[in-house]
Amino acid sequence: MSKKEKIAHTMEFPPETEQPNIFPLDWRRETTKMEEIWEASQKEYWDPAKLPWDTFDPSRYTWEERECIAYWWTILSVFDASAPPVFAEALIKTYEVHEEDPVRRCFFSVLRDEQNHEQLCGLVITKMLDHTDPLTYEPKTEIGKKAQKNAKWLYFNGARYWEGYKRAVPKYSLAVLFSSFLMGEMAAATIFHQMATGCTEPVFQEGFKNIGRDEGRHMAICMSLMERDYPGLEGEDREIITKQIRAGYLFLSAVLFEPPLEFWDVPSDFIDIQRECEEVSRGAGFNIPSYDAKKENWRNAILNLKGVLDKFDIPFPAIPEVGIDGKEILDIDMDDIIPVF
Ligand SMILES: [Fe+2]
Ligand SMILES: [Fe+2]
Repeated sequence: MSKKEKIAHTMEFPPETEQPNIFPLDWRRETTKMEEIWEASQKEYWDPAKLPWDTFDPSRYTWEERECIAYWWTILSVFDASAPPVFAEALIKTYEVHEEDPVRRCFFSVLRDEQNHEQLCGLVITKMLDHTDPLTYEPKTEIGKKAQKNAKWLYFNGARYWEGYKRAVPKYSLAVLFSSFLMGEMAAATIFHQMATGCTEPVFQEGFKNIGRDEGRHMAICMSLMERDYPGLEGEDREIITKQIRAGYLFLSAVLFEPPLEFWDVPSDFIDIQRECEEVSRGAGFNIPSYDAKKENWRNAILNLKGVLDKFDIPFPAIPEVGIDGKEILDIDMDDIIPVF
């Protein structure tokens, strides 16, 4: 129908709108749990600009320390700065598939939270480096140069999944798309709580406490979605979920543990450089969990997720890196990633 052909004078009511159209005109509320999570997100909303910045003086740190701490925030940014577009796309999908009202609101809250996390990364990096980005910054120390090389490789790798994600969104249901989300949120919630208690800087303590609380809510959103949708899953969806869990492990390990080198395309000295930066940061009171603590945390998050998936009879992938056996999944590429954090 061309724009000029008006039909309103020919009939009393318009024809049915072809479905699915972009937005529902309906506010059905079916999942009570989602309603509660939304209410919590409203109460717990925070503004990164209102953290106690007046107590934060980067000149208290040496340039090595500033560059190493900024490096850690850069790793986090590779995940948290890509989360807003990922969830914006997911939010659109909740409208396209006419999800119930509280589900749309919950996805909106995740988008808003992740945008906040990105803002905090930006604020810390800008103050620590006295420059607005870690990639064009001119490092002042030897370790700063090495950290920047790592940052460039992280950015290169992190940018590779977007096309694959855009192709995956129309193909899969929300519950399938976000199956590896739960594992990321579980591990993230723990790591941020650990950092909140271990850091000496009030801005970091409070920022991590808030982020950890947000991630806990995201975890609850994911659980409610699974509980609602997994009982009726098709066989094919189950296989994709198994693969997604393995992919999620490989992808998120870069921030929650260490990047698996068969998947992340990074130089051979990458991990050594990262460990060196972490050591300097810890010495400056920025409490990144140790290798063993990260591994333990990651393993627990994965076991928790396994508990959830076992309930729905979804085969779990083998994750030998943290001592979990299951179905062997090979040949995962960045293109297979549905990145969630
Ligand atoms: Fe986040
Ligand atoms: Fe999150």
